[in-house]
Amino acid sequence: MTEVEDEIITLPVDERYHTAIESYKKAYKESLEQPETFWSREAGIIDWFKKWDKVLDDSNPPFFRWFVNGKLNASYNAVDRHVLGGKRNKVAYIWVAENGDEKIVSYDGLYYRVNNFAKALLDMGIKRGDRIILYMPMILEAPVAMLAAARIGATFSFVFAGFGASALAERINDSQATLVVTADGSFRAGKIVKLKEIVDEALTMSSTVKTVVVVKRTGIDAPMQEGRDVWWDDVIGHGSNYVKPEEMDANDPLYILYTSGTTGKPKGVVHSTGGYSVWIANTLKWAFNPGDDDRWWCAADIGWVTGHSYIVFAPLFLGLTSILYEGAITYPAPDRLWEIIEKYRVNMLYTSPTAIRTLMRYGTKYPKMHDLSTLKVLGTVGEPINPAAWKWYFENIGDSKTPIIDTYWQTETGGFVISPSNGLGLPPLKPGSATFPVPGIDPTILDESGKEVKTGQKGFLVFKKPWPGMFMTLNNDPERYKEVYFKKYGMYYTGDYAVNDHDGYFWLLGRADEVLKVSGHRLGTIEIEDALISSNEVAESAVFGRPHEVKGDAIIAFVVLKEGEGGDGDIVSKLRNHVRETLGPIYTPDEIHIVGALPKTRSGKIMRRVVRAVFLNQVPGDISTLENSASVDEIKSAIELVKRETSL
Ligand code: WT7
Repeated sequence: MTEVEDEIITLPVDERYHTAIESYKKAYKESLEQPETFWSREAGIIDWFKKWDKVLDDSNPPFFRWFVNGKLNASYNAVDRHVLGGKRNKVAYIWVAENGDEKIVSYDGLYYRVNNFAKALLDMGIKRGDRIILYMPMILEAPVAMLAAARIGATFSFVFAGFGASALAERINDSQATLVVTADGSFRAGKIVKLKEIVDEALTMSSTVKTVVVVKRTGIDAPMQEGRDVWWDDVIGHGSNYVKPEEMDANDPLYILYTSGTTGKPKGVVHSTGGYSVWIANTLKWAFNPGDDDRWWCAADIGWVTGHSYIVFAPLFLGLTSILYEGAITYPAPDRLWEIIEKYRVNMLYTSPTAIRTLMRYGTKYPKMHDLSTLKVLGTVGEPINPAAWKWYFENIGDSKTPIIDTYWQTETGGFVISPSNGLGLPPLKPGSATFPVPGIDPTILDESGKEVKTGQKGFLVFKKPWPGMFMTLNNDPERYKEVYFKKYGMYYTGDYAVNDHDGYFWLLGRADEVLKVSGHRLGTIEIEDALISSNEVAESAVFGRPHEVKGDAIIAFVVLKEGEGGDGDIVSKLRNHVRETLGPIYTPDEIHIVGALPKTRSGKIMRRVVRAVFLNQVPGDISTLENSASVDEIKSAIELVKRETSL
C-alpha cells in the first residue's frame, strides 16, 4: 500500500452533516445506470431556450456531444434569469480591492454592465464565433467581459494575468483572437504589474489583434496606440443597453482555456456551452450545497479554470453571492483571508493546499484574531492536500466542525470529478483523500498494460464514461486531443496517479507525466526548457520538479551553456529573469544548475528523469523502468554523467 493515511474523521451527526451516504449512492447509481433519465432531470438546473433532442451523442468517440440541439445562453443564465426571476436586488459580487476598497454589485447591476459591454463588443465589430482574449486582473470587469462575450456568442480565452508576453502571444496566435481586453496594470502584494505593456510586447509577436480595450485600474501611464487601443470607459457607452442573448447551441464553444501539457505548446481546452453549464452548476450544488443566503468565496484567480467555473459561471447560474478578492492572500498581512471572512461573514471558503500551507506557516495567531464562526463548509483544489494541512484547516479554520471538501478535477473536466458530495450525502472524511466520484463519473485505476490494479496499488486514473462537463476537443488540434487523452487506454486518461483504499476512497498521488504543480498551477517542464533555450546563452536544458513543502513542486533546471557563454558571473539570475519575462513569474526556476553536459539516449533525447532521480537521490534498484526509450547501459552511464557533472 502506498503511504496513505486513512484515519477517518466522522463529523458531528446532525441533519446537515450526517454520514448516511445512501442518497449519494442512489444518485450515483442512477447517473451511471440511467444517464438519460438522470441528466434530463439535472439539466433543468439551468434555463434552456430550446430543449435538446438527445442527452448524449456518442456515435463519434472520443468527440462526445451532450444535449444535442439544445439551445441556451450562459450569460442569460447568469444574469437575465435572476433579474427576471425575483433576484434583481440580490448581491452577485462583493468585490474587495487589495487596498480594502469594496464594490457591491447586485444581479441587476451585473446585468446592466454585461449588456453595456456586450453592446460595446458588437460596436467594435465582434460577432458570434469570433475569438477574444481577456488578460485581466481580479476586477469586476473580468466577469463582465466573460459574460458579455458569452452573450453575443464570441468565444473568449482568458489568459491568467501572471503570464508573460510570449505565453500571451502564443495564446493569441493559437486562438486567432481579434480583440484583447486588459487593464493598465494590476495590484499584486502592494506592487503594480504593468499589464498593458506586456500586451504591447505580445502584440509584436502576433498579428490578428485589431483592438485592445484597456480598463483603467491603477492609473499608471499606459501607452495607447492610436487606432488600436481604446479605454473601457470610452467604449461602454452610458445609456442602458439591451443586447439580446444569442441562442447558442449546446455544443457551441463557450471558451478556450490553455493549459500545460507534455510538449512546449500549451493545449487549448475547448469547453461547450450546454454540457459544461449543466456540469458546473450541479457539481457546485452537490459538493458544497450552498444555500440561497450563503456567501460563497472561491479564492482562486479568475484566469484559471477554478475561477471560470466556480467564481463566475456556477455561482452566477445558482444565483449566489460571491466574494471577489483582487489581491494577494498575505497582503498586507497574513490574516487577509480571515479578515475578509469575518468582515463579510463568509459561509464557504474554497482555496488551494498551497494557500493553506502558506498560511499555516504563520501559525494559528492570525486565524485566532478573527471570528470565523460563519464558516460552514471549506474546500480545497489544485493539488493533493497532505493530511497535516488538511487537519490544520479543519481544526483551526473550520473549528473541527466544517467538512473539508477536497475537490479533484482538471481544466479538461470542467468541474469537480472526485469530491465528497455534501449536498447529496457526506461520507466520513479521510484527511488527504478526495473520497468518491461525483455522479456521472466512472473512475478506475489501471496499470501500464491497461489492467485494473488491486486495492491499495498505485496506478493511472482513467474515466470509463464521458460526462457532460468534459471538454469537446483541443483548439486546432483534434488529433492531439485523441492522442493525449484517449490513445493510451481508449478511455479518458487523466495523467494522474491514484490509489483506491479498502473502503473505496480515492487518493490522488500527483501527476504521472512531465507536468509540474507549482502552487497549484500546472506548468509543463518542456515549456520551461524551451524558454531557457530561447535565451541567447543556453544550448540544452532539463527541467523537473523537486517536492517542496509549501508549493508542491519547486522548479529545478539543469542547463548546458553555449560555447563561450557564462563568463559573466550572473548568468543564473539572467536566465531566471528571461524565464520570468517570457512565461511569467510563476515559471521562474527555483534553482538553475550550470553543467557541462546532460545525459541523452542514443536517439538524442535528454534523460530528464534520470537527472531528476540522481538529483533527488532516488536512483531505484530497477533502473530500467526509469526511461523506457533508453537501454540500461545508457541509463547507467547517464547516472555516472550526472554524478560527475554535479558532484552529487
Ligand atoms: C491537475 C489539474 C482543477 C482546478 C485547478 C487545477 C491536480 C487538482 C486536485 C486535488 C489532487 C489535484 C491533478 C490534476 N489536482 N485538484 N483535489 N487533489 N490533485 O486545474 O491546472 O487543470 O490541474 O491538478 O494533478 O490533474 P489544472
